Amino acid sequence: KLDAVIFDLDGVVTDTAHLHYVAWRDVAKEIGISIDETFNEQLKGISRMASLQRILQHGGKAAHFSTADCEELCARKNNRYLATLASLTPESILPGITALLQALRGRGIRIGLASVSLNAPVILNALGISHLFDYCADASRIVHSKPDPEIFLLACRGLGVAAQHAIGIEDSLAGIQAINASGMASVGIGEDLMGAGLLLPSTRELNWHRLDVYWQRLHP
Ligand code: BG6
Ligand code: MG
Repeated sequence: KLDAVIFDLDGVVTDTAHLHYVAWRDVAKEIGISIDETFNEQLKGISRMASLQRILQHGGKAAHFSTADCEELCARKNNRYLATLASLTPESILPGITALLQALRGRGIRIGLASVSLNAPVILNALGISHLFDYCADASRIVHSKPDPEIFLLACRGLGVAAQHAIGIEDSLAGIQAINASGMASVGIGEDLMGAGLLLPSTRELNWHRLDVYWQRLHP
């Protein structure tokens, strides 16, 4: 039986994945590193500091920055990111998400959030949907970013459901790997998400019926 659906936030519930990219692109530029959207795919689902490390490595500058420098760069990125978050309203929820959350609630299926973003609570509040989530895993409590399953397992535990009775929804490759490693069934939003149990091009195609058909196929 399907007991819970656990959502990633950035790029699934709202398009903050793009805002993360813009903030990192500008900070990277200031230290002479250029990143594009293809490279950015590698940053999705990865914590703030781990993202910076990947950017520095990409630019061949990992050795040029001390721990204190890295902390300053992360703070700089986050300040820019927070400034762009000011534009978030309930209208920023991606198509299909609100209807799905309501359909799940109507069926008594628990709803969780598994985002490694420390800004997740602020974002859910700005979107006006905090009350629709039964449990949000606290990113400050996890040690390993995705693709490690830690954040999804924390969400399952918080919801009181077994991973085998839950579906996870993700827009990143690291996220799909995390869901699969947790023992949950995985739904990918986007293209090229290798390993996704069900792959949909956008949240527009995401609805209760499709999740139900997918679950029945897995558990005939
Ligand atoms: C993830 C994003 O949800 O959160 C990553 O996909 C981001 O791009 C990570 O780096 C951490 O977010 P924050 O808001 O704590 O910097
Ligand atoms: Mg994401």
